[in-house]
Amino acid sequence: MNILAIETSCDDTCAAVLNDDRILSNVVSSQTNLHKKWGGVVPDIAKRAHQKRIEPVIMEALSKGFNLPKSLFDKRDLKTMMAKIDVIAVTKGPGLAIALSVGVNKAKELAIKYNKKLVAVNHVEGHIMANWAKNSKGLPERNIELPALAMTVSGGHTKLIVIKSPPNPLFDERGGMASFEYQVVGETLDDAAGEALDKAAKLMGFGYPGGPIIEKLAESGDINFLELPRPMADKKILDYSFSGLKTSFYYKIKDWPKEMVIEKANDLAASYQNAVFDMLLRKFKLAAEKYEPKTLLASGGVMANKELRKRIRKLAKELKLPVYMPNKKILDTDNAGMIGVAGYFMALKEEWADPETLDRDPRMNFNLPPAPSLTRRGV
Ligand code: KG4
Ligand code: ZN
Repeated sequence: MNILAIETSCDDTCAAVLNDDRILSNVVSSQTNLHKKWGGVVPDIAKRAHQKRIEPVIMEALSKGFNLPKSLFDKRDLKTMMAKIDVIAVTKGPGLAIALSVGVNKAKELAIKYNKKLVAVNHVEGHIMANWAKNSKGLPERNIELPALAMTVSGGHTKLIVIKSPPNPLFDERGGMASFEYQVVGETLDDAAGEALDKAAKLMGFGYPGGPIIEKLAESGDINFLELPRPMADKKILDYSFSGLKTSFYYKIKDWPKEMVIEKANDLAASYQNAVFDMLLRKFKLAAEKYEPKTLLASGGVMANKELRKRIRKLAKELKLPVYMPNKKILDTDNAGMIGVAGYFMALKEEWADPETLDRDPRMNFNLPPAPSLTRRGV
C-alpha cells in the first residue's frame, strides 16, 4: 500500500511517501525563521506559509519517494505520481485550526481529484506511531510488546498513554500488530513540556524554539544553581503541571540585569531544564509502576534532547523494561512520516474519512472511554 501523508498542524509544512509502514521520503519545510522574531508561532503567518509551500512539499515528497527524476518536479506531472498512491493520510488535529485546514483541504482536494482513499490522523497518535516507523529497507525491526506506556512530549502536548492490544487484534500481512487501544492516564494541566522550555528561553531573551537553545546552554551549566519547584511532584498524581515552574523562574530572574542573565545563562538553562525533565521522569516512573507495561515508549519534539533520552534510558534500566524512541531526529519533531505510519494502521482497519465532509479538529482527543477499573487521577 502506497501512502501520501500530509501534516500542517503547527509551523512545519510536511509531506511523506510510505510503502506500508516504511517511509520512502519525509519532507519537512520548517517555518522557524518566519516565527523566530515573534518568539512563537503566529497562526496567520503559519497559514500563509503552509498555503505557499504545501504543493512544492508534496511534489518533493512524491518525487523523492518514488525516485523520480527532477524533471518530474513539475505540477503537470502530479497525475503520474498520484497514480502510484493508494491512500492519502492527513493530520485532522489537534493543532492550530487555520494551519490544519491547509493540509486537510489539500488532502481532500487530491483525494477527490485522483479518487483516493482518505484517512484522518490524530497528531498525538502520529507521535506515538513514530516508534513503529521503518526506513525504506524495513529497519529498525522492533518487536514492541504491549501493553506499552508511551510518553509524548512536544510543544503542544505532554501525555502519558497506555497502549493495549484490543480484544480482537488485527495483524498486518507480516504478522505485526495493526490495531491498538489507547488510554490517556496522565497529561499536562496547563503548558506542555516543550512550551515550558520555549517560554523560559523567551524570558531569558533567547530565540524560538527554545528547547534546542536551552539544551545547548544546559550542557555546561550547573543544575543546582537555581532552586525551582516541582509542581505536583509529591502527590501521587499522573498529570503534569509546568506553568508554576515557569512563573517561579520568571520571578527569580525578573529583576536581574540583562548582562547577568547572559552571564549565568548556562546555569539558568541547566537548572530549568533539569526541573522540567525531573517532572517528566517522575510521572513516567509513577505511571510505569502503576500500569506495569511490558515496554516504554517516548516520542515528540522534546525527545530530540540528548539529556532527556539518556535519562529515559536510565529509567528503563532501573525499571528493567525495554525502551524505544524514534531513531532519527526528524521522527521526533513534527513530520508527515509518523502521520503516514498511523494512517497505514488506520487504512488496514479501513477507517476511511469522507473527502467531501472531512473537517479539521483543533481540539481532537483520543476518544476512548477510560476502563472502569482505572481512574484518570490519583493513584
Ligand atoms: O513535536 P514538535 O515538533 O511539535 C509539536 O507538536 O509541538 O515539538 C516542538 C517542541 C518545541 O517546544 C521545541 O522547543 C521542542 O519540541 N524541542 C526540543 C528540542 N528540539 C525541539 N526540546 C528540547 N530539546 C531539543 N533538542
Ligand atoms: Zn507534534
